[in-house]
Amino acid sequence: MAEAVILTSGNGSNFQAISEAVARTNHKITAMICNKKDAYSFVRAEKLGIPSYHVSYLGRDRKAAEKEIDDLLERFHPDLIVLAGFMKLLSSEMTDKYEGKIINIHPALLPKYPGTHGIEESFASADTELGVTVHYVDSGMDTGKVIRQKSFVRSGSESLEEIETRIHECEHEIYPQVVIELLDRAEEGK
Ligand code: GRF
Repeated sequence: MAEAVILTSGNGSNFQAISEAVARTNHKITAMICNKKDAYSFVRAEKLGIPSYHVSYLGRDRKAAEKEIDDLLERFHPDLIVLAGFMKLLSSEMTDKYEGKIINIHPALLPKYPGTHGIEESFASADTELGVTVHYVDSGMDTGKVIRQKSFVRSGSESLEEIETRIHECEHEIYPQVVIELLDRAEEGK
């Protein structure tokens, strides 16, 4: 068995998709950490029976918040740290400490459209192929090594909402797959 901790900031649909898929394996999601107090991901955690922790970034510097996150990571000692809609940039201290163990999903085909508007920028582009990227996390904004991408071809007549739905479908398909594969690999290495 290998274990993962998931970091979120809001809705938590990827957190749920990953947790449900991992529950069908011998691996385990041991905790969910969220920086937003009223995030829907807490409701999902409760339903999934996964312990959840709120770590606020409000009114203090990143270092203090990251110390609290790191204390939880030290406690759970996960094989994999999964960022799923986590909207904070981790410092190089954190990404160096957990190098090769932190992954993220981005709603665009990196290196195109990094940052917080990946869906809108993909939609506004002339690209006919859109998609999502799972990548390792370094201290840059969506700059870490790409692990896997999934794309689809758009007709051009879709609305932004339709494109968003297709992007989330791609995310919910490949992110659980990659997480399980990396947990399998971590288990093999034990
Ligand atoms: C996803 O589109 C993800 O790619 C981006 O933030 C969104 C999170 O959605 N980083 P959710 O919280 O998993 O529903």
